[in-house]
Amino acid sequence: MTTNRDELKRAAAYRALDFVKDGMVIGLGTGSTAFYVVEGLGKRVAEGLSVVGIPTSERTAAQARGLNIPLSSFAEHSQIDLTIDGADEVERKTRHLIKGLGGALLREKIVAAASHELVIVVDQEKLVDRLGDHGTPVPVAVVQLGWQASAAALERLGARPTLRHATEDHVFITDGGNYILDCAFGRIDDPRRLEKQIGMTVGVVESGLFIGRAKFVVVATENGVEILS
Ligand code: A5P
Repeated sequence: MTTNRDELKRAAAYRALDFVKDGMVIGLGTGSTAFYVVEGLGKRVAEGLSVVGIPTSERTAAQARGLNIPLSSFAEHSQIDLTIDGADEVERKTRHLIKGLGGALLREKIVAAASHELVIVVDQEKLVDRLGDHGTPVPVAVVQLGWQASAAALERLGARPTLRHATEDHVFITDGGNYILDCAFGRIDDPRRLEKQIGMTVGVVESGLFIGRAKFVVVATENGVEILS
């Protein structure tokens, strides 16, 4: 069933496709909003648009293949023109992000870092004054070995970490074979510093804090689509 929130996500996703130009290498995000980006891109490709996509997850790759969007990899393209992705929280003034509730944060950050432009698509529910205001934990990908020690180190940074599970009995494992610790920090006063501190923690592969990376945020509101830049 398509809800009003889905319709908002689709409206913003299709608006974000205005940033796409013929011949581009496009980073394809992951999540329920990025799903609509890929859906819309598939329609544009069917109409004759020529692009190649670099997917941020196996899920997105499968969707893109199903829509005949040509896919490529870092072996062919170490630089990406534009990435369009979703986010879990967006700090309104700075466009700093929390990402990774969908579990693809490592590939998402690698793709975002290699992109000339990162465009984020959200519905209005994701906007906050300060990261953490909605209580969204910061997902942190950690290597499996010694995750308990990594969790203890993250606790010392002020987090309440929870090991993510796929089911009650099974730990969630990312496409890259890592575990995820969902780290509740509450309101984050200095996200740039926190991103660095988390990154220096032994066993941490990457965090879902995306600081200073989003150039545009396309926001779907009840009154239409708004662009933060
Ligand atoms: C995937 O790992 C995430 O970073 C998603 O981009 C993020 O969770 C947003 O997902 P939704 O669009 O489903 O809310």
